[in-house]
Amino acid sequence: MEFSIKSHSPEKAKTACAVVGVYEGKGLAPAAQALDLAAGGAIAALIKRGDLDGKAGSTLMLHQPAGLACERLLLVGLGSESQVSDKAFRDAVRAALKSVMASAATEATLWLDEIPVGDRGGDWKAEQIVLAAAELAYRFDRLKSEKPVPATALRKLVLSVERARVRAAEAGLARGRAIAAGVDLAKDLGNLPGNHCTPSHLADQAKDLAKGHGLKLQVLERKDMEKLGMGSLLSVAKGSDEPPKFIILRYQGAAKAHKPVVLVGKGITFDSGGISIKPAAEMDEMKYDMAGAASVLGTLRAVAELKLPINVVGLVPTCENMPSGRANKPGDIVTSMSGQTIEVLNTDAEGRLILCDALTYAERFEPAAVIDVATLTGACVIALGHVVSGLLANDDDLAHEVYRAGEAAGDRCWQLPLLDDYQEQLKSNFADMANIGGRAAGTITASAFLSRFAKKYKWAHLDIAGTAWKSGKDKGSTGRPVPLLVHFLAGRVKQAAG
Ligand code: BES
Ligand code: MN
Ligand code: ZN
Repeated sequence: MEFSIKSHSPEKAKTACAVVGVYEGKGLAPAAQALDLAAGGAIAALIKRGDLDGKAGSTLMLHQPAGLACERLLLVGLGSESQVSDKAFRDAVRAALKSVMASAATEATLWLDEIPVGDRGGDWKAEQIVLAAAELAYRFDRLKSEKPVPATALRKLVLSVERARVRAAEAGLARGRAIAAGVDLAKDLGNLPGNHCTPSHLADQAKDLAKGHGLKLQVLERKDMEKLGMGSLLSVAKGSDEPPKFIILRYQGAAKAHKPVVLVGKGITFDSGGISIKPAAEMDEMKYDMAGAASVLGTLRAVAELKLPINVVGLVPTCENMPSGRANKPGDIVTSMSGQTIEVLNTDAEGRLILCDALTYAERFEPAAVIDVATLTGACVIALGHVVSGLLANDDDLAHEVYRAGEAAGDRCWQLPLLDDYQEQLKSNFADMANIGGRAAGTITASAFLSRFAKKYKWAHLDIAGTAWKSGKDKGSTGRPVPLLVHFLAGRVKQAAG
């Protein structure tokens, strides 16, 4: 999709589809008012008759409206005029684009920058429009032998913006495009099944990313990990015939002395559960167990495209979790890179076993902050559903910063308490700790486990088990939390600038 910005009035614009806002309770947004005037009051009359209620996300498409220059006019409901929320704006944009995409219009012009949305700027609105368009245009059909016909004739979106606000809108377009590219990469990797998306494939993707965007890449092989003493990660990998990889991608946008943010992504390319094997139903969805890794790669892509003046390191420990004669067995005790020993009471709690060694490895970068991203616990889906990601942290300021980034990005998360009291559930009779803490508070005990390896820096953990993909009819990867992470990193730039 092509995006551009123009400053022009709606009554004169020769567009295939003009999109303007209407409030609940019959109020017209300024562009709709201007069109109504040009059309001799036809729009107000139509709304008065009750053909559009103005609820956020309602739409009405008019063809060849008399007296107007546009071929089509799409009225889109914005909800209450006194307060257009983030969600109402997003719902309206999504519904409008859906309706335009279902028409034969190849181009559309949106007068939506004029809608006040709390204290969100024009950059935010432009970004949301780009992200919604990318979301609706996304298809994953590379493994279908017959390529379906394109979903839409729409090729071009024009954002009409007042002259004084063009710069803000341009910044939003750029951020939206970069985030959308990162989200698309994360979605593609997530949707690609385990027989295609192996640890080696993730390493190849990291290589392409490094080449295309000037990132530094290092990939550790099994023997390198052995030398480093990553016994916990390797214990998960040894049940599979696929060789494990440890991907290190470095983006340098600031001076070397500038401490990096380290992102760590869980890269289990298929989670069968291992010897503690999972039930058969929906086990296919465990191809998404590398969504954390995918989001780290997607975020690095976006950050590189935006050329953010910061330093970022992406760490991706990646392997399969399979049952075999060489697999971890319940009761096995492994030694992590940190020297701490772990009793593997359940081989299906493998995410924390690979992440803990990556968290120890992260120490060498003297990070400003570390954020790990993982489809870590089914318990998180029970606690928070598919709306917000779980957030836990050893530093409240960092937690708040991550939370705010999620709000701004429309990719929200919610904090759970990482209290010392939960550590007791990880007691082992035979090792320094067990890898599970029982059924109660499963998301918290998983991060309590991780926190034992994140003592030397500020650290936050995002559990994306409920948000990284959708089940059912719309089964597929969501690309979350790339938008959150990009906003977090972009926010750090502003901080550094004072
Ligand atoms: N990858 C799963 C978590 C998961 C489960 C994500 C369902 C999305 C949907 C993880 O490796 C896992 O199996 N966790 C176990 C931990 C338990 C054994 C303590 C779980 O959540 O059941
Ligand atoms: Mn598992
Ligand atoms: Zn897993």
